[in-house]
Amino acid sequence: MTETAYRRVNARVTGIALAAALGGFLFGFDTAVINGAVVALSDDFGIDGAIEGFTVSSALLGCAVGAWFAGSIANRWGRIPVMVIAAILFLVSSIASGFAFGVVDLIIWRVVGGLGVGAASVIVPAYIAEVSPAAIRGRLGSLQQLAIVTGIFAALLSNAWLAGLSGGAAEVLWFGIPAWRWMFVVAAVPALVYGIMAFRLPESPRYLVLRGDVDKASQVLLDLGGVTDVNLKIQQIRDSLESEEKESLRDLRGSALGLRPIVWVGILLSVFQQFVGINVIFYYSTTLWRSVGFDESSALLTSVITSVINILATIVAILLVDRVGRRTLLIAGSIIMTVALGTMAVAFSFATVVGGEVTLEGPWSMVALLAANLFVIGFGATWGPVVWVLLGEMFPNRVRASALAVAAAAQWVANFIVSTTFPVLSGIGLSFAYGLYAACALASLVFVWWKVRETKGMELEDMR
Ligand code: GLC
Repeated sequence: MTETAYRRVNARVTGIALAAALGGFLFGFDTAVINGAVVALSDDFGIDGAIEGFTVSSALLGCAVGAWFAGSIANRWGRIPVMVIAAILFLVSSIASGFAFGVVDLIIWRVVGGLGVGAASVIVPAYIAEVSPAAIRGRLGSLQQLAIVTGIFAALLSNAWLAGLSGGAAEVLWFGIPAWRWMFVVAAVPALVYGIMAFRLPESPRYLVLRGDVDKASQVLLDLGGVTDVNLKIQQIRDSLESEEKESLRDLRGSALGLRPIVWVGILLSVFQQFVGINVIFYYSTTLWRSVGFDESSALLTSVITSVINILATIVAILLVDRVGRRTLLIAGSIIMTVALGTMAVAFSFATVVGGEVTLEGPWSMVALLAANLFVIGFGATWGPVVWVLLGEMFPNRVRASALAVAAAAQWVANFIVSTTFPVLSGIGLSFAYGLYAACALASLVFVWWKVRETKGMELEDMR
């Protein structure tokens, strides 16, 4: 293929991957938006800290359920219908959360949004891997994480903007409706755009072959370009499907505790990605920044800066993932995170606690601030994107959607465990909490070293 033809093909696939990744944007936005709204809605609904925490975490359980079911729907109806369903769930949840009458229906609508987030967390990595040429699959798969972190950033900005317009999240903004409700409602716009775009995306050629629709699959492969011999590719996909005579969740069975080893690798990648505590930084950032001496508004600004750092770190991953490979990035990330989290644990051992308020003073506050940002860089350039890339590509064709669904559901449960236990752990001491996350980062290094294979440049048909 000539250089120009190659570029044209890549530009087209990149466009398709970007459109699919809008699901990641909604994932990031939806999980982050609650932070700005929660204080105001607690006042409005007169709820206490425990219910406030439950409002935030219940959505995570919705995500686990959404991820779990996305696999079988993707196998039965296709990849595109899952995107459309996710978009509808996002749309309904954003509008209904904004108009919730009380805490119970707010929780219900957050869970509905969670179902969409969970579905997107499965379908976007699978779909992108299935339409990408092997040479740039890592880069395109990382767009999912770029979209997630951009979504987190957009939610922070939109929350700050809406609260700024009305003079506070609890204050009335437009049509007599308080700003915190608008924080949810604005997500209806990207949700609608996603639903419309999903209809225009081509179905995954691997899914089409799985369903026996070879003509359509050839058409999509031709259209996507990048494949020199379409018939040969179809044959390879068929062979890979036939060598795997199993399908659906039931067929992920194997020897180790009833699951195949590769599914365990996926689950553990997911669990480690959460057990290093990344979302503690994102969900509880204001508390962290206040403890190192920032007031309320500079704490918000610091959160915005941290999420920009996360976006920039993802770009580093995009540049590196297809060159140095997935394993190298994960190993480097585990080392950086162990050092950064270990440093935070040491720094917070010098903290003073007065009436539940943690304060760090002198040089240790600076050390903690730098270490926290080093942690975000280390995660954002490695484990953040690479786990999503691997989950999308590492499973054999026939079980991809089901295996990814199980691994992603495990990730949401792990996320739930970390975010609900953090208040308890930090009650024992922030130093203890970060020490625990540092130990997990170290364990993740050992795990990757022994168990994670390199997939850089491999064809999906060669995944076993
Ligand atoms: C990854 C994680 C997600 C986290 C995000 C932050 O996508 O899966 O839980 O919020 O990174 O960068």
